[in-house]
Amino acid sequence: MTNILCIGAGYVGGSTMPVIASHCPEHRFVIVDINEARIAAWQSDQLPIYEPGLDEIVSQTRGKNLFFSTETDRHIAEADIIFVSVNTPTKTFGHGAGRAADLQFWEKTARQILENSTSSKIVVEKSTLPVRTAEAMERILNSNTKGLHFDVLSNPEFLAEGTAIRDMQNPDRVLIGGRETGSGRKAVERLVELYAHWVPRDRIITTNLWSSELSKLVANAFLAQRISSINSISAICEKTEADVSEVANAIGRDERIGRYFLRASVGFGGSCFRKDILNLVYLCEHYGLPEVARYWEQVVLMNEYQEARFAANMVASMFNTVAGKRIALFGAAFKAHTSDTRESPALAVCRTLLEEKADIVMTDPYALDNACQDLQDLGNQITYEPDPYAAARNAHAIAILTEWPQYTQLDYERIYQSMVKPAFVFDGRNLLDHKKLYELGFNVYPIGKPALTRLVNHGIEAA
Ligand SMILES: NC(=O)c1ccc[n+]([C@@H]2O[C@H](COP(=O)([O-])OP(=O)(O)OC[C@H]3O[C@@H](n4cnc5c(N)ncnc54)[C@H](O)[C@@H]3O)[C@@H](O)[C@H]2O)c1
Repeated sequence: MTNILCIGAGYVGGSTMPVIASHCPEHRFVIVDINEARIAAWQSDQLPIYEPGLDEIVSQTRGKNLFFSTETDRHIAEADIIFVSVNTPTKTFGHGAGRAADLQFWEKTARQILENSTSSKIVVEKSTLPVRTAEAMERILNSNTKGLHFDVLSNPEFLAEGTAIRDMQNPDRVLIGGRETGSGRKAVERLVELYAHWVPRDRIITTNLWSSELSKLVANAFLAQRISSINSISAICEKTEADVSEVANAIGRDERIGRYFLRASVGFGGSCFRKDILNLVYLCEHYGLPEVARYWEQVVLMNEYQEARFAANMVASMFNTVAGKRIALFGAAFKAHTSDTRESPALAVCRTLLEEKADIVMTDPYALDNACQDLQDLGNQITYEPDPYAAARNAHAIAILTEWPQYTQLDYERIYQSMVKPAFVFDGRNLLDHKKLYELGFNVYPIGKPALTRLVNHGIEAA
């Protein structure tokens, strides 16, 4: 039996470890966190995160070979392998503020491992980190005078929230970076064996440490770049009467381009894309590559532009003012099938509309508690309403900000009847049947497609 510890019971630690535990019943897994409320939730029937399939896998493993705890020191002492999946947000202070990764949680964890270890261990970076962080980690850990040896591996996590369990069960690849030394190679092999319980060997890639660390940043940069690219094209589509879905379909048929991640939207969100690109930008600057830094920074700037453009379009279409108008925001999560609202475009749009003095009501099937927390600086300016029908009642406009499939099933005739006229739909995810909505009487504004509206010249009904 191997004692495996994961430090950090967030989205990554909390959704990866139960899957590994379910495939490795002979090993014992403990997940620890400094956040007591989070650990209490992991031990209850109300898990702290919503992720399809997570409840089942936790109930299969919890109390058998998977345990949640706040006693980090004790479990560090017992562990043979330690995964570290603590948060690595963007630095908000000092040198590199707004770009570099804030590694304070990371370094504290390294020191805590050092203080509480009485045996040699493998330490696995699961968090996303700047390139060469493993080197700093090795230096801290191997500075000990207890004669202990620590092998540091990089095993970045590629799961996507909303499909985390499916991604873990059937990953495209597992990436493990390690040192080219005898003990480094042995450590890599131990981790490979763990994953090989269910992942075919040819999908487990091993590289040097730095390639592994960099690959995670690059993967997120490339994914986000696809979204920013198609979003930039959505802007020109709106000016030219081209249709961004038709363009995406036409170019995506080219195998060299591929059809995934070509859906125009109000923008990307989530805790990772922005943070990881800015981290890459910072690294490029640090290594004297300003042209490369500017290239990747543009992906983030394009995303900010798209969010701002969407909100500005709402205001312009609603006769250049939304002051005092009730607007129902459908969706708070940064994407469907998650309760996560970190960096959600819905929150950015919400803030802009509040600056314009709109009366905002926000609805979402799973993410309202998180949204309320993220927007708490705005006090009681926002109404949170789980029922989308109630949210839309007496509203001038609906904005679709998360692509929840539930929103395609609503009775839009009933919604239309309950709204102030002229009634507007701004579909930031191109989710709904626009023609049908138009026929019901709505003025419809998709992303990257011609608007379907009865209004011309600001409010004069067309014949
Ligand atoms: N969320 C994702 O989709 C995703 C995907 C791939 C990689 N990542 C990366 O994984 C890392 C974790 O992301 P997350 O979304 O799980 O973050 P999270 O904020 O949900 O979870 C991190 C947890 O670590 C805990 N923590 C911080 N310091 C600690 C300490 N010293 N001891 C014990 N616990 C501590 C926090 O309390 C928190 O619960 C980040 O580096 C992120 O970039 C995230």
